[in-house]
Amino acid sequence: MSHITESSIKKITAPHIRARKGGQPIIALTAYDYPTARLVDEAGFDFILVGDSLAQTVLGYDSTLPVTLDEMIAATRAVKRGVKRALIVGDMPFGYYQDDTKRGVESAIRFVKEGGAEAVKVEGGARRAGIVRAIVDAEIPVMGHIGLTPQSLLRMGGYKVQGKTLDAARELIDDALALEHAGAFAVVLEGIPAEISRIITERLSIPTIGIGAGVDCDGQILVFTDLVGLTFGHTAKFVRQYADVKSIMADALKQYADDVKTRQFPAEAESYHLPEGVAFNIIEEEHSESMPPLGPIN
Ligand code: KIV
Repeated sequence: MSHITESSIKKITAPHIRARKGGQPIIALTAYDYPTARLVDEAGFDFILVGDSLAQTVLGYDSTLPVTLDEMIAATRAVKRGVKRALIVGDMPFGYYQDDTKRGVESAIRFVKEGGAEAVKVEGGARRAGIVRAIVDAEIPVMGHIGLTPQSLLRMGGYKVQGKTLDAARELIDDALALEHAGAFAVVLEGIPAEISRIITERLSIPTIGIGAGVDCDGQILVFTDLVGLTFGHTAKFVRQYADVKSIMADALKQYADDVKTRQFPAEAESYHLPEGVAFNIIEEEHSESMPPLGPIN
């Protein structure tokens, strides 16, 4: 297997990611807008997923189910403007590919044409093999996603680790193989036992990208806001939080509000002033206009 050194690559493509199987771990993160995309790209990540987690992390929905294709495409466009090197993967939202292959292909094409995505991700295993193949046939690289797939929330009855019984584990392995055979260039393994993801990683010839799937995957992905600590509410056991950006932001907001209240903001250095002569004249004018007219002098 030939391995490519990513430092020599100007723009990472789906075939580059595919060729990383078994090599240096693939590093990935979600991003949803221009500043987060710039930060992730400049930190040297290999791919950026414009995840449908946008629904919860940015738009304030309580699951990924309500987010629309238009919302996802708008976010992808912003991400695109911030990225020079990383591969950009658009996450196909719930309801735009499950029911109808034609609709799925059209949605993927919109991600590419309108959003600037360079690949799309779909959730689900063998059941999605048809749509994966159809999108690949439309010349768009597809990343699979199996295990704890958030779009299956209603069927799973909650966000639960998947593949814990022998049958469920076997089904996950078959799902991963079905996605590879359908032409996926990589597959995300989410919320599954590390033992199963190791077996899947060994059995597949395409890279596995783990999130809550143990250390043996070919790469790892997390959600941007989880990693930097900008989430409200529960975070999953698999999250490692590397910063507490929410506290930093809350402190900054409080300090600003205090400074305004106490007239510590703005200071001289943050204010503009008139040039000398103009300042003198305008103050004179103001002063004379506000003086009461002179009465008769006796
Ligand atoms: O939407 C998302 O954030 C995802 C993950 C794989 C991180 O699908």
